[in-house]
Amino acid sequence: MRNCCAVLLSLALSSVLLAQTAVREDSARRQWYIDAGKQTYAIGVNDQEMLQSLYWGPKLAADAKLPTAKMHPERASIDPPVGTTPLEYPAWGAGLYTEAALKANSPNGDRTLVLVYDSAKVSSSDELEVVLKDKTEPIRVHLYYHAYPEGVISRWSRIENTGKQTFGIEQAASAVWNLPQGTGYQHSWLTGMWGGEWQLHTEPLLTGAAVIESRKGSTSHQANPWFAIGKTAETTEESGPVWFGQLGWSGSWRMSVEDTSLHLVRVTAGYNPFDFYWTLKPGESLETPKFYAGYTDGGNGEASRIEHRFQTDEILPRRPAAMTPPPPRPIIFNSWEATEMTFTDQTQMALAEKAAKIGVERFVIDDGWFGQRNDDHRGLGDWYLNKQKFPNGLKPVIDKVHSLGMSFGIWVEPEMVNPDSDLFRQHPDWAMQFPNRQRSEMRQQLMLNLARPDVKEWMFNWLDKLVSENDIAFLKWDYNRNWSEPGWNTAPGTSAEHPNIDAEKEIWIRFVQNYYDVIDRLRKKHPQLEIESCSAGGGRVDLGVLSRTDEVWPSDNTDALDRLSIQDGYTHTYTPQTMAAWVTDVPHMERRSTPLQVRLLVAMQGALGSGNNLNKWSDEDFALGAKLTALYKTVRTTVQQGSLYRLTSPGTEGQHASLNNEVGASQVEYVARDGSQAVLFAYLHSMRYAVGYPTVRLRGLDPNATYRIKALDADKYKGDDTVSGSVLMGAGVQLRLAGDYDSTALVLERVSR
Ligand code: DGJ
Repeated sequence: MRNCCAVLLSLALSSVLLAQTAVREDSARRQWYIDAGKQTYAIGVNDQEMLQSLYWGPKLAADAKLPTAKMHPERASIDPPVGTTPLEYPAWGAGLYTEAALKANSPNGDRTLVLVYDSAKVSSSDELEVVLKDKTEPIRVHLYYHAYPEGVISRWSRIENTGKQTFGIEQAASAVWNLPQGTGYQHSWLTGMWGGEWQLHTEPLLTGAAVIESRKGSTSHQANPWFAIGKTAETTEESGPVWFGQLGWSGSWRMSVEDTSLHLVRVTAGYNPFDFYWTLKPGESLETPKFYAGYTDGGNGEASRIEHRFQTDEILPRRPAAMTPPPPRPIIFNSWEATEMTFTDQTQMALAEKAAKIGVERFVIDDGWFGQRNDDHRGLGDWYLNKQKFPNGLKPVIDKVHSLGMSFGIWVEPEMVNPDSDLFRQHPDWAMQFPNRQRSEMRQQLMLNLARPDVKEWMFNWLDKLVSENDIAFLKWDYNRNWSEPGWNTAPGTSAEHPNIDAEKEIWIRFVQNYYDVIDRLRKKHPQLEIESCSAGGGRVDLGVLSRTDEVWPSDNTDALDRLSIQDGYTHTYTPQTMAAWVTDVPHMERRSTPLQVRLLVAMQGALGSGNNLNKWSDEDFALGAKLTALYKTVRTTVQQGSLYRLTSPGTEGQHASLNNEVGASQVEYVARDGSQAVLFAYLHSMRYAVGYPTVRLRGLDPNATYRIKALDADKYKGDDTVSGSVLMGAGVQLRLAGDYDSTALVLERVSR
């Protein structure tokens, strides 16, 4: 009976969600309207047969009609219409001087395209395909749109050669998102570096183009393929228009945010055209990655919440497959910071015993378990067990971990090889290279050329064997360098004697396709396997990899103070469910000592884990670790899958700004999906002038409900035990944080409405 009710409930819920997506065709006006959540996106064919963007903003009425699309007239001889009309997918040609979505070479010598409307198909209530064709050449471009009820639309393209000769593609974007023409926009984006990822920037959008990109072969630390555009005079954390988007691609990418001199504002993203070439033979297609975007008038906070919900419910892999959202992340202990590569099976088992005492649910052995890997100079590529460290094999360790009630995980770095390895000695040609150029080593390692089919098969086979022969629940998949000599002289169509540079350039895409393929096959064969994407911290995080992995390692920097800003930047676009966060020992890379409580609370803002050297922990540390881990288990679904409110961001002016904006009072709040629970984390970096902690006004609660407040620290909260939502959001709560690196948490349980 309960199952039957659950099915009915889920059917009812899915029909409510389905009602939030609609694709509508107005065939008389040749227009298409896509509703997703609270937004509408509309396109139409104009009088020149070109497809243009008509609208992107708050949801329109179901019968709304927009004026028929019209190509903008030639403004002046130097401003031809293709540049002054918000074209949906502008190809380079007919005098397009702004960013092109597509640039292709015809076998007859023509290097331009002019794309006009061919046909459209509304495939379902959430999917649309529009086909464009070149006016003269046998090139068709299929534009795909998929609407998600959480308030996101994905767009991508497929470029098809319908002729009898070969074309060359020099530039291919996934999509172009046109915003309303005008001024006064601000652009937010994320940049970073090793140990300092996820730094948020917000600047007025200046006339011209702001380009962020990766030329590194992977997503990169330096920039993330995300944008949020608001209006300087209107957009805040809590309100105002925000157009936002993310490209789902784990290779080199480019995103250009243009504000043309006529103030046409648009965002173009896709494969990075740098060193790019794709040979399109007759009948072949090139598909681009998905470019997801949405609109809200609820400010930057609401934009993040839409992205989080969308990722949790639509992007992340699920186990079991039908489960939405996927289960929250287990609490992981990872051995890296405790032991680095100096360990034995005995020392790992001793750590596992200690981890179990805190309440950890998964034990992960990091780098150093294989080949001759005793330091980072050797061993990568030799994926057999190091017999000195594991004389009896992995099984006794895994059995021990299981007997302690934990699952087992292990570190791998499949795309890399050390020159000092058996693999490299056997297959020096498998490393990426140009034959006459010395290979650049980074961390004493080289990139394997995963574009090669033999490398791909080798990689799948050893990973499959590792997971098949051992009870492994989790792989931490690392990637610790970027590309330097992207040669591929065995690519189809090239050879050492007759190099075909164009064919070799496909390495940029084929490598990533094969990386995805290996993970997809592995997961298919081992449906219970979970994977973390790590790249020397947060160098490979995007919606392409997140559709295949369960969590990411956002940064090697686990200093509590730095992490507050790193996590703040991260959650502007990615969900806390994916944000692995370890508590580690102090001093860390900043040589700073912070109390264990603040380190634990900061890590509890995401998927809590531990990287501590537990051999050095005191009884008090174990007691606090166990207490907060137990608390975390009662709130983790709220933290990982609820609604996140950045009440005061770290590193920005807090409520103490008038006294001293260096005081660093920051708070984050999470509200459960069903509203039954909320959690508040509050921090104080450094007290100044003995001024009390600022009032904290909560958000996202039910004003008519009453909440029971459980304070982590009785001496830091002196309010009532039960408080109404309206008081919590209006008058707020008073916390007594003082001194340096103080912290506390409140858990609010809704008791009545
Ligand atoms: C870089 C990762 O970010 C670390 O967590 C650790 O796994 C090392 N690699 C191991 O080499």
